[in-house]
Amino acid sequence: MDRIRIVGGNQLRGEIPISGAKNAALPLMIASLLTKDPLVLENVPRLADVKQLERILENHGVDIAVHGRRPGSDRMDGQRMTFHAADIADTTAPYELVSTMRASFWVIGPLLARAHEARVSLPGGCAIGTRPVDLFLFGLKALGAEIEIDEGYVVARAPAGGLVGATVSFPKVSVGATHTIMMAATLAHGTTVIENAAQEPEITNVAECLVAMGARISGIGTRTLTVEGVSELHGATVEVIPDRIETGTFAMAAAMTGGDVLLRNARPEHLQAALDVLGRSGVHLTPEANGLRVRRNGNGILPTDVETQPFPGFPTDLQAQFMALMTMSQGTSTIRETIFENRYMHVAELARFGADIRVDGQVATVTGVSQLKGAQVMATDLRASVSLVIAGLAAKGETTVNRIYHLDRGFERLEEKLSRCGADIERVSG
Ligand code: EPZ
Repeated sequence: MDRIRIVGGNQLRGEIPISGAKNAALPLMIASLLTKDPLVLENVPRLADVKQLERILENHGVDIAVHGRRPGSDRMDGQRMTFHAADIADTTAPYELVSTMRASFWVIGPLLARAHEARVSLPGGCAIGTRPVDLFLFGLKALGAEIEIDEGYVVARAPAGGLVGATVSFPKVSVGATHTIMMAATLAHGTTVIENAAQEPEITNVAECLVAMGARISGIGTRTLTVEGVSELHGATVEVIPDRIETGTFAMAAAMTGGDVLLRNARPEHLQAALDVLGRSGVHLTPEANGLRVRRNGNGILPTDVETQPFPGFPTDLQAQFMALMTMSQGTSTIRETIFENRYMHVAELARFGADIRVDGQVATVTGVSQLKGAQVMATDLRASVSLVIAGLAAKGETTVNRIYHLDRGFERLEEKLSRCGADIERVSG
């Protein structure tokens, strides 16, 4: 299994291109199931999760083409891909394909809307928490679906003639359930109102894609989405937004090591809460025409408290990376994880660098140390893994991050992007 080897201590200086957002690309790809026409996506990142979803979509009968490079494009540029679901060949999403990636469960919305039936494996447990699907089922039932659980599968059927619009008032904000119900509602009869919808920029990216495909959606970017069903959707060309979690991760890496990095293509408005927190901890952030500049020159890192919240709050997907930063602060900070009940697996691994962290339920108390020391570490999820990489960049001596397939699920060319900016980092095979 591949590992990443890092010799810490180098400041980061230069430019890092931000890739297309994984968590936007995945639901955009799924939206292709809603139409018999081709959906063209620009700026799709090269990630293991994208590959896995390609397999799932191909099983439903989607033809997928990756377009070649165009003149003048850089190898860091995102891919242009076409997804063409002329016919839905199979409405089952099998366990073998769904169990490795939770977002694949979201195909249930478009399948039910277009083919009026779906049989999708329950995604099962997950390292960061139980992650149930009750909100999805609640929303789909409101649109008239009949649902039963059979041998680990959710079997859903639309009423004769298709789904019917309704008011879906979510008791809790869920990104996946919002994507799914919004997609399902585009082809329902009548109007659907989604209350307490997620407002993440990835939801907006998908909503705007659906509108480009002929859907009628209002309230985009707010907590209430109104979807007027139409009889069919058509093809479109849509660009995947830049990855705000990758942006925040590299901003924290630059903050940890010191230096001066331009995060090219970054959209600061997509992670304002995280940037505000970084600003309070002593990092200089300057929006520029083509991205975001991040600097920390000499000054120490100030302890700053954080609580994770749905957008526009501080994202749970940056909690591990921010904790890594706080392990080097000049005092004590508290981090409260409110989204997932078990998202502190990185704590024991950060301790291997000499970090001082105490966890009590949802709250982690982090007391800064003057110097982290390189170590052998591994992590069990994507964002936890990258927090170990950025700790390794700032630690004294050598760090080996094992089990890096988690990183490949969500970070494109991570070691290449960092080494271009002066980090001593390499992938070791086998
Ligand atoms: C999305 O997951 C992201 N994944 C996650 O990123 C991210 O951490 C999460 O949103 C929160 O921002 C993708 O976009 C592919 P949720 P999702 O439904 O949709 C509970 C990463 O590292 N809940 O908003 O699965 C759930 O257990 C990943 O890129 C229910 O109780 O998250 C959690 O506590 C990890 N019942 C909370 O809601 C349900 O039916 C929020 O989860 C659904 C969710």
